[in-house]
Amino acid sequence: MHDKPAPSRTVAPETGHQAEPAAPRKKIFVKTYGCQMNVYDSARMVDVMAPTGYAEVDTPEEADIVILNTCHIREKAAEKVYSELGRLRDLKKEKSGRGESLVIGVAGCVAQAEGEEMRRRAPAVDLVLGPQTYHRLPEYIARLANGGPGIVETEFPAEDKFESLPVPDRRKTLARGATAFLTIQEGCDKFCTFCVVPYTRGSEFSRPVARILDEAKALADAGVREITLLGQNVNAYHGEDVKGGAATLGALIRDLAAVDGIEHIRYTTSHPRDMDEELIAAHAEVPELMPYLHLPVQSGSDRILEAMNRRHDAESYVRLVERIRAARPDIAMSSDFIVGFPGETDRDFEATLDLVRTVGYAQAYSFKYSPRPGTPAATEEDQLPEEVKSERLQRLQALLGEQQVAFNEACAGRIMPVLFDRRGKGERQLVGRSPWLQSVHVEDAPENLFGNIVEVEIEEGYRNSLRGRLRAAEAVVA
Ligand code: SAH
Ligand code: SF4
Ligand code: F3S
Repeated sequence: MHDKPAPSRTVAPETGHQAEPAAPRKKIFVKTYGCQMNVYDSARMVDVMAPTGYAEVDTPEEADIVILNTCHIREKAAEKVYSELGRLRDLKKEKSGRGESLVIGVAGCVAQAEGEEMRRRAPAVDLVLGPQTYHRLPEYIARLANGGPGIVETEFPAEDKFESLPVPDRRKTLARGATAFLTIQEGCDKFCTFCVVPYTRGSEFSRPVARILDEAKALADAGVREITLLGQNVNAYHGEDVKGGAATLGALIRDLAAVDGIEHIRYTTSHPRDMDEELIAAHAEVPELMPYLHLPVQSGSDRILEAMNRRHDAESYVRLVERIRAARPDIAMSSDFIVGFPGETDRDFEATLDLVRTVGYAQAYSFKYSPRPGTPAATEEDQLPEEVKSERLQRLQALLGEQQVAFNEACAGRIMPVLFDRRGKGERQLVGRSPWLQSVHVEDAPENLFGNIVEVEIEEGYRNSLRGRLRAAEAVVA
């Protein structure tokens, strides 16, 4: 995704040997919607296509294959895909007028949820593939190139995919930068009544520890300093350990912290029910584990939490946050909220505001409830009017916004390690991330600090970022 297109059409495909004369290089464009796991999956799709001679490009116009990696979580997310498909249909026509071809693929959660329906609604689509089948992309593309009919492939399970994916390509990883996602767990067995994920991603699956360590070492070797472990229910992780038992996330984090070069570790998204003692202890004892935790609560009302099938109440969430803070006092909390769930009263909503005031968040995402086909809550009778949802969302976001600004402003004057992972707009401007996942802008930063973790003194905090400066005789921390 952050990779650069091949410089010329005469570069040989990455077959591993030089014998063949230079073949024209083909191009793939992947557009990502939705969560971080889709970001990871998109990168892996590019990885699996690379050995067949495909290089990644930045626009659909340049591409021979366009893949939309889609999200089904809310109605808006899914609708965006169809409008994009309209544009791609026109592009395909235009290209075929010039004697060029364009393969249109839809991957991800909309593909999984809609399957055949997708090609009925958007006949320009050649390929529909669910989140567990994209390792077979080269085979599907070859079939289509040979004039085969359109393909819809939405079968599970995740094991086959992970076993078939190559260890990340060092050159590509280098180009992607100093931070990386690493999927360790996928799928969900929790069945919250509002959520499509158990249907689109399938049941929980954890990758074995050894495979995760291999991937982390490859990433570290390519210059990655920070990894974010991904899973829809990442703290339900229970992958096979080297002795054949089941590892917890806490144990896996300790193993990863021992990998040379991996300096920062994060994980997302966790469920309050799966925050076990071992994981909380890791927050206290593993310095590589960053003091930031995204722990979605959705609502502060016990009645609504029960109707959502979250399997905990507000009080136990607040107690849990207290225990986590006791283990790691400087930890910053983040969360997800849904307003306007069916049957939510003013009182229920007030309970959510109360919970936010009690916990205090550094950052959070909040959404209006969106009824999703096939989920139990979608057929509840007491759906709320749009105006009520909008008004509640606005109030909640105002409160969360205040907390976020207060948290960022309180960082002024502090010195913190910042991983420089982006280049700023201006020359000699670098942008990095703080331990608390804030963007930190630094002027007058030498290029050789890019990709490194450096002590930065924060001068000012804003709503969405911090501004800082390098300290004299700047030491690279890692
Ligand atoms: N696995 C994570 C969340 C996955 S989805 C968890 O258990 O918390 C990311 C977020 O999208 C959810 O936390 C929820 O806040 C939101 N979301 C999911 N389904 C939704 C729906 N139908 N309407 C509105 N928001 C939704
Ligand atoms: Fe969806 Fe709930 Fe599973 Fe999270 S835990 S992915 S919200 S069903
Ligand atoms: Fe969306 Fe699927 Fe992720 S529905 S949020 S892309 S798991």
